Amino acid sequence: MNIALIGYGKMGRTIEKVAVSRGHHIQSISDPTFNDNQENISINGADVAIEFTKPASAIMNYSACFKAGLPVVSGTTGWLHNWSQLKEMVELHNAGFFYASNFSLGVNILHKVNEVLAKIMNHQPDYKVHIEEIHHTEKEDAPSGTAISLSHGIENMHNSYHSWILDNQGSINEIPIYAKRENKVPGTHTIHWKSDIDEIMIKHEAYSRAGFATGAVLAAEFMIGRRGIFSMDELLDMKQR
Ligand SMILES: NC(=O)c1ccc[n+]([C@@H]2O[C@H](COP(=O)([O-])OP(=O)(O)OC[C@H]3O[C@@H](n4cnc5c(N)ncnc54)[C@H](OP(=O)(O)O)[C@@H]3O)[C@@H](O)[C@H]2O)c1
Repeated sequence: MNIALIGYGKMGRTIEKVAVSRGHHIQSISDPTFNDNQENISINGADVAIEFTKPASAIMNYSACFKAGLPVVSGTTGWLHNWSQLKEMVELHNAGFFYASNFSLGVNILHKVNEVLAKIMNHQPDYKVHIEEIHHTEKEDAPSGTAISLSHGIENMHNSYHSWILDNQGSINEIPIYAKRENKVPGTHTIHWKSDIDEIMIKHEAYSRAGFATGAVLAAEFMIGRRGIFSMDELLDMKQR
């Protein structure tokens, strides 16, 4: 597979390593820093584009790829207020687009297991839930977006819980999320279901950015020959078959 890499920052460089290790070829690299401030992206000869840049440039990059008939895999965050514009562009060009705000396969599998467990626990009132997330000390937001999504997954599947609360026991309808900050931890999330006699825990611990990069490369392999908008749900469902 020939890949047009758009954005050659921390993620772009990690994706390059993962893609090459899976036998793919980096056809082109577009990044204003890497290409001496050249603004146009280069995509000639590529089968798919992988885009990890900045919110302000994402939509323009997608547009250029769609016009050239190239499917796009993107993980750039912070542009989702333009989702309706993106949908129109995909329809207009009959394009292929894959988006995930978290490409880690492990985290996406954790979300699914979390929902199944919450559904089971709906009938087990002795168990109370709380979520713990640990991240590096430079992380500015708390709780993490992933912890909030995990809470939403439980709220959707369990009748007793309706919202989350940060670093606090809260009321019986609130899911406590405890956010810890420790040196150099890329991201750890644990869901605890605790009774007076035992405890069930499901945990995901990221060791590095490689998990995000691997998910993006798998998504690029998945997108060859596909048109329409896809997410990790489709990628994981396909892998389960
Ligand atoms: N979905 C996921 O799983 C996931 C995981 C990690 C990160 N992310 C997101 O991915 C994005 C990139 O993260 P990162 O850590 O790689 O950031 P980064 O290290 O800052 O890299 C972004 C790169 O894109 C370049 N760029 C800016 N505008 C561009 C354009 N128009 N065309 C091509 N390249 C352009 C930047 O160049 P300049 O520095 O010159 O502007 C920079 O080199 C962020 O939005 C981040 O939140 C998503």
